[in-house]
Amino acid sequence: MNFVPGGLFITLEGPDGAGKTTQMERLEDFLSRRGFAVECTREPGGTPLAEAIRRLLLEPCYGPVDARTEMLLYAAARAQHVAERIRPALDAGKIVLCDRFTDSSIAYQGYGRGLGIEMVRQVNRLATSGLLPDLTLLIDVPVELGLARLRGKGAADRIEGEALAFHRRVRQGYLELWHLEPRRICLIDGTGSPDAVWWQIKDVIVPWLEARGGD
Ligand code: TYD
Repeated sequence: MNFVPGGLFITLEGPDGAGKTTQMERLEDFLSRRGFAVECTREPGGTPLAEAIRRLLLEPCYGPVDARTEMLLYAAARAQHVAERIRPALDAGKIVLCDRFTDSSIAYQGYGRGLGIEMVRQVNRLATSGLLPDLTLLIDVPVELGLARLRGKGAADRIEGEALAFHRRVRQGYLELWHLEPRRICLIDGTGSPDAVWWQIKDVIVPWLEARGGD
């Protein structure tokens, strides 16, 4: 097993229906085959307490939820996740793959809910003790395509069921984040087939790992 000193933290981000989950599985498989110790997790969730907060956040029965309450619950789940799972895995030299992280809060609560990126950043700095991903793969899809992909996959959760205008602000927020941090955030075109999306991710990951002496 290949351990990386200090670990590597990779996150996948994107609007609802971008296809992150499929790509996470491929990436986990790819890295494991190359001998890396990989820890795969998701947000909100990843620990028993954070999964319980996830249920509170996503079940439509509690809505409407105040925007600040929502931001703080996502941040509370994240604080537990970082402390209990992500930080220890990084300290053990693993590659941590996480489906969504702080960028989701900035896009959904900061831009989508209109709380602004500064407040969300501050709260999350506290929640994560300043932990930032080493690399973020932002899988971008037009809102209509993302939501169409979700149709037929069961009832929408509280966030998926939001108005089109909300989802448009989220996508726009992600693209602005990419402009702000183009070195950390890598934009992937999510409109093609799962294979087409995966090839783009592989084109990013292989040189990125090599540059860190991880091959
Ligand atoms: P999930 O079913 O995991 O969505 P996906 O499969 O698209 O990742 O539900 C997570 C939802 O919560 C998703 O709509 C995005 C939203 N979310 C936020 O609003 N803020 C956050 O900080 C996080 C992590 C997720």
